[in-house]
Amino acid sequence: MQTLDDLRLYVETYYGHDFWRGVAPRGRDAEKNPEELIAKFFQHDLPTKTRMFREYIDFTFNHFVKPRIKDEPMSNILSMPCANGEEAFTLAIHGLENDLYIEVEGRDINPGLIDIASSGKVYIPTFRFKQLQPWIEDGFLKRIPKYSRGGIVTANVEVPSFVKDRCQFFIHDILERSLDEHYDVIYCINLFVYLSDNGKDAALENLVSGLNTGSLLIVDQPYWVPPPNKRNGMPRYNAKNEEIYGWKVDLNEFYASLHKKDLGLKKVSKFDTHNVYEKT
Ligand SMILES: C[S@@+](CC[C@H](N)C(=O)[O-])C[C@H]1O[C@@H](n2cnc3c(N)ncnc32)[C@H](O)[C@@H]1O
Repeated sequence: MQTLDDLRLYVETYYGHDFWRGVAPRGRDAEKNPEELIAKFFQHDLPTKTRMFREYIDFTFNHFVKPRIKDEPMSNILSMPCANGEEAFTLAIHGLENDLYIEVEGRDINPGLIDIASSGKVYIPTFRFKQLQPWIEDGFLKRIPKYSRGGIVTANVEVPSFVKDRCQFFIHDILERSLDEHYDVIYCINLFVYLSDNGKDAALENLVSGLNTGSLLIVDQPYWVPPPNKRNGMPRYNAKNEEIYGWKVDLNEFYASLHKKDLGLKKVSKFDTHNVYEKT
C-alpha cells in the first residue's frame, strides 16, 4: 500500500460501510505524506480496546479448549487480533493454571500494539485491578511503577517471564494474508464487527487456513438484543435504536452460521450463547 487511494480502497473493501467516511483525512491533513497517513490509520484509527480475563474467554477456555487439549503434551493457540496482548496473556495464564503446556501466538495489524505486547508491559485502568487481584496474588501478573512514554502512562502491569515466554507476537494483516502455521485453537474476538461482508469472508478464509482437522475456531459471543414484543411479534426497539439492534442481529446471525459456509466448520457449542466451531 503506497498511496492514500490505496488506503481508501483497502478500507472501503474490507471495513464496514461508512468506516472510511469517519477516518478519511480532510483538508490539509489529506496532503500529508501518504506513508504517514497509512501508518496513522493502522496505529490510531482502528479500534484497539481489549481486556484481560474476559468472561467469554474464561468460559470458552474452560468448557471447550481445556477438554480438547488436556491430553496433549503441547498445544498452540492463536489470538487474532491480539491488540496489546492482554487476551494472549490471559490464555497463557489459563494454561499455566491448569498445568497445560500451551504456546500462544498473538497477531495484529497494529505494529504499536505488537511492540507493547512483546514488551509484556501493559496499562490497566485502576478500576480493573480488583478483578485481576487473584492473578496478581498468584504471581501471574505484577504491578509495576507507572511507566510513561512521551508523558503518557503506557504501563503499570507486567507479566512475569514465565508467562511472557509462552507468548510470541507478530504483525499480521488477516484480511490480506493467510496463516503459515496451524493452531489447535484460534480465538478471533472483536474483529468481524468492524468488517464489511467482503472483509468478513476474507478474514474467515484466512483464519481457517490456520486450522487442522479437529482444531477449534472461537468467535465472538452473540450480542444481547431485546426479545420481540410478545403481543405482535415485532422487534422491541424504536426507530432511534433500530440501526444499532439491526446490525447486532445481523452479526449474531453471521457468528451463528459459519457452519453453513463452505469452509468445513462444524458448530460444537450447543447453545446460541457461544460460537465455537471445529474444523472437520
Ligand atoms: C477491539 S481489538 C480486539 C482485541 C482482542 N481480540 C479483544 O477482543 O480484546 C481489535 C483489533 O483488531 C486489529 N485489527 C483490525 N484490522 C485488522 C487486520 N486487518 N488484521 C489484523 N488485525 C486487525 C486492531 O489493530 C485491534 O487491535
